[in-house]
Amino acid sequence: MPKRSASLFSNCGAGDLGYVEAGFRFEVMAELEPDRLAVCHLNHPQADTIEGDLRETWRDVLTRLDARRRSTAESAPLALLTACPPCQGMSAARNDLGRGDDPDAGSKDERNLLVTVIADVVAESRPQFVVVENVPQFLTRKVRHPETAAAVTAARYLTDKLDALGYEAYPVVVDLADFGVPQSRRRAFTTFVRRDLPAFSVLEARGLTPYPLPRCAPDYGGERVTVAEALAGVPPLSAGSPDAARADGFGGLHAVPVWSERQFAMVDSIPPDQGGSAWENRCCEAGCENLSVGEDEATCPTCGEPLLRPVVVTDGAPRLVKGFRNSSYRRMRADAPASTVTTASGRVGSDVTLHHREPRVLSPYECQKLQTFPDSFQWGEAVRRGLGTVRTMIGEAVPPLFTGLHGRVLARLLDSPEAISDDELLPAADPRHRRAVKRL
Ligand SMILES: C[S@@+](CC[C@H](N)C(=O)[O-])C[C@H]1O[C@@H](n2cnc3c(N)ncnc32)[C@H](O)[C@@H]1O
Repeated sequence: MPKRSASLFSNCGAGDLGYVEAGFRFEVMAELEPDRLAVCHLNHPQADTIEGDLRETWRDVLTRLDARRRSTAESAPLALLTACPPCQGMSAARNDLGRGDDPDAGSKDERNLLVTVIADVVAESRPQFVVVENVPQFLTRKVRHPETAAAVTAARYLTDKLDALGYEAYPVVVDLADFGVPQSRRRAFTTFVRRDLPAFSVLEARGLTPYPLPRCAPDYGGERVTVAEALAGVPPLSAGSPDAARADGFGGLHAVPVWSERQFAMVDSIPPDQGGSAWENRCCEAGCENLSVGEDEATCPTCGEPLLRPVVVTDGAPRLVKGFRNSSYRRMRADAPASTVTTASGRVGSDVTLHHREPRVLSPYECQKLQTFPDSFQWGEAVRRGLGTVRTMIGEAVPPLFTGLHGRVLARLLDSPEAISDDELLPAADPRHRRAVKRL
């Protein structure tokens, strides 16, 4: 029997596909944005979908779950609730969010308090497992407690609420590259396990956590998948002209933005494969090469033309753009996992978005591959509406390769907890768990 499940903040439903593969079946999925929910429904046709702000719709989730339960002869319990609230208000990438330990700054972004909805749904539906995913700052970013106004993290608020409801929290901060995702993606997961389940006694007695082993991590003797391996065989593209910037087929997803001549020349001048950036270019617009120039120079010492670096001209004088030199206009390294696929995958201004050797950003098809979406993933009308929103949905997703591994662990913990061997699950002594517990 598939295990009854529900999903909050579902986006396009990508992450939940891994749990489906592991034997869970989503009966209800809830998401704010109609375009995302439409894609979600295409990929989870059996689910009832609930559109809108969950602060207003969370009771509808319970009503629908109840209706689904009544419509089947079998009254199986709710096995899994997945909930990935938005992370923009937590993110370390934004410097307009104030200090992470300032609860008033944290509470300014109302999205940081959306965990209250998760606690409400858990209190009424009592799932056996609850899985919450977010950026690592979820464990440390302070907000004002919605009832007491004390300074707490959203994670602490949720953990306290669910503790009182009889759940044990198992937080981890992991790089998903350690599990075979061809991308470095550090994320915090917290799996809450109901203490009356046999699975809880097994985990506690054996010193285990409800997560798979990071078999690709160097500390487990594994090897991570590199971006070059993951993208091998994908047809080349170039941002230099409209014809070269898209390939036929691939559901229209293998396409990249076309750049200006200067932007193209800047990126084309970065040596391939080694993770170099346009900030280090030693050539100029007029064609002078191998120049001896310092890292803050903006013009060619030979001819006075701007260097092929991120330059702006103010009052007639070229100067380097004030920017993030580690992450903007930078290629990925061919011999390492890709950098984190974000919602900004189509832009060059941040987030290490450049292909390891070709003159362009990655296409949505490649981003989807690095996020381990199955090739069968359905986009429906979304592609026709614009690749920008497709990139956003991909960037916010949880890689289904990881949720598939995690789902298999959760299914084993429900079906045959006693049969689990000690070398199957992440030990509680692993620093990925121990450090997350300390942060929490
Ligand atoms: C990080 S994404 C979830 C990713 C998803 N688990 C996946 O694997 O694709 C967060 C989602 O929450 C949605 N969201 C944000 N605020 C919301 C709200 N108030 N009510 C419902 N959904 C919301 C966003 O539109 C976004 O799709």
